[in-house]
Amino acid sequence: MPETVVTNDDLSRIMDTSDEWISSRTGIRERRLVKDETTASMSIKASIRAMENAGVTADEIDLIIVATVTGDHVTPSTACEIQAAIGADKAVAFDINAACSGFLFALHIADAYLKIGTYKTALILGAETLSRIMDWSDRSTCVLFGDGAGAAIVRADQTGLLAYDQGSDGARGMVLACPNRSNNNPLVKNPTDMKFVNMDGQEVYKFAVTTVPSSINKVLAEAGLTTEDIDYFALHQANIRIIQAVAKRLKVSEDKFPTSLDHCGNISAASVPILLDEMNQKGLLKPGMKIVLSGFGGGLTWGSAVIEW
Ligand code: UT7
Repeated sequence: MPETVVTNDDLSRIMDTSDEWISSRTGIRERRLVKDETTASMSIKASIRAMENAGVTADEIDLIIVATVTGDHVTPSTACEIQAAIGADKAVAFDINAACSGFLFALHIADAYLKIGTYKTALILGAETLSRIMDWSDRSTCVLFGDGAGAAIVRADQTGLLAYDQGSDGARGMVLACPNRSNNNPLVKNPTDMKFVNMDGQEVYKFAVTTVPSSINKVLAEAGLTTEDIDYFALHQANIRIIQAVAKRLKVSEDKFPTSLDHCGNISAASVPILLDEMNQKGLLKPGMKIVLSGFGGGLTWGSAVIEW
């Protein structure tokens, strides 16, 4: 994550908000925002750490997938920037856009490639500099998000993926949207320049609390498991009330839902891998544990997985 911590109180000094409003509605107390860091620079650091943790060298990596909606360039992709920086010369590298579900989609794509034998070792990331695409005059949205990157190595002989569910509902896509740059070609008379995130928070909330429990129930059924078999539910870190509502609908204790949103905010595609890394650093994860991962957000998209650690 970037170095600079921005607390709710810091935000209340530059806009009409308060720690009380943000923390009581979302559980977020602070987030990290980039100053000099970029999506690629954070991704490269995360990739190097993931390679060290996994004991994998750059020449072993043959697939790099980055889930991001905030790559530094339209092209080259963040994945290609990582490839060059770490020297993974024989890897194929590309980005995907599935917003907050992106890391789950990247995991599933990697698993599919690895299972059919095309590649053996994948480096997958969720990475975002969301602060670049926020409307900082829209207090209802900008206070929710943060910046960061998370990486994982997935290997063909141990992908760990036991079951998977993913979906999209493009018809509802505009409830969480960010326009790309406007068209300024000579045929366009009045190009607009609206390029920040706009969100109908309540619609996204309703989508999350209905879709996530049903997606998790689907992956559990596919894996032949029940909620009792699961050690942890590592969900996209959007809002503590969404996590509590999902726990309630699944009838699972909130203790099984670790969180990082209090100090990270919502980092879209990066939130699940950063949460997993924090759980790993704290020593919570033991070989053989079964963990449900779930991401949901822009698109609209959602993805859930049962993994064995
Ligand atoms: O990755 C997925 C990302 N999306 C999400 O996670 C969004 C899910 N949705 C939510 O988490 C909630 O809908 C929000 C936290 C975004 C908003 O909570 P809410 O309870 O739905 O609040 P609201 O939008 O209905 O706003 C209530 C009031 C309004 O004032 P009035 O009209 O009642 O006077 C807002 O103007 O709160 C006001 N408000 C704020 N006040 C202080 C909105 N943002 C702020 C703010 N500080 N930052």
